Amino acid sequence: MGARNRIEVMHGVNLDQLGRRDPAVYGDLDFDALERAIGEFAHDLGLQARFFQTNEEHEFIGHLHRLDGLADAIVLNPGAWTHYAWSIHDALQITGLPAVEVHLSDVQNREPWRSVSVIADLCLQTITGRGVDGYRDALARLAQELG
Ligand code: DQA
Repeated sequence: MGARNRIEVMHGVNLDQLGRRDPAVYGDLDFDALERAIGEFAHDLGLQARFFQTNEEHEFIGHLHRLDGLADAIVLNPGAWTHYAWSIHDALQITGLPAVEVHLSDVQNREPWRSVSVIADLCLQTITGRGVDGYRDALARLAQELG
C-alpha cells in the first residue's frame, strides 16, 4: 500500500463567499486565498490536499459517498449545515474515514445555535476560532493519525 496522505478538504454552504463575509468574524482571506493557504500547509506536512466546495447539501453528501478509495482522511467545514444537517453526519459516518472539523470563527461564543455540531462525535478533533491556522492544526492532527 502507498503512503496514506490523501486529504479531502471539504467546504460547505457559504464558505465560497469568504471575502464578502464579516472579516471581524471570518478573517480577511477570500476563499481562493484560504484554499491556497491550506494547500501550502498540506504540502509542508507531506500531505496531498484535494478541495471541494458546494452550496448544495445533496452534493456535499454525494461527494462524501464517492470518497471511497480516493481519500485517506477528511478536513471539513460544512458551514451552517454543521449545526443541523444529520444527513451529513450519516454520510460522514459511512465514509469510515478519520476526520477533523474546522470552523474559522469561534462558534462556541456566538449565537447559541452555532455551538451545536452534528458531526463532532465522528471527528477526531473540532477546531474553532483559529481562522486559517485551524486548518494547519487539523492537517497536523490527521498527519499524526495517518502515521
Ligand atoms: C463557520 C461557522 C458557521 O456557524 C457558519 O454558518 C459558517 C462558517 C465557520 O467557519 O466559522 O458558514 O463554519
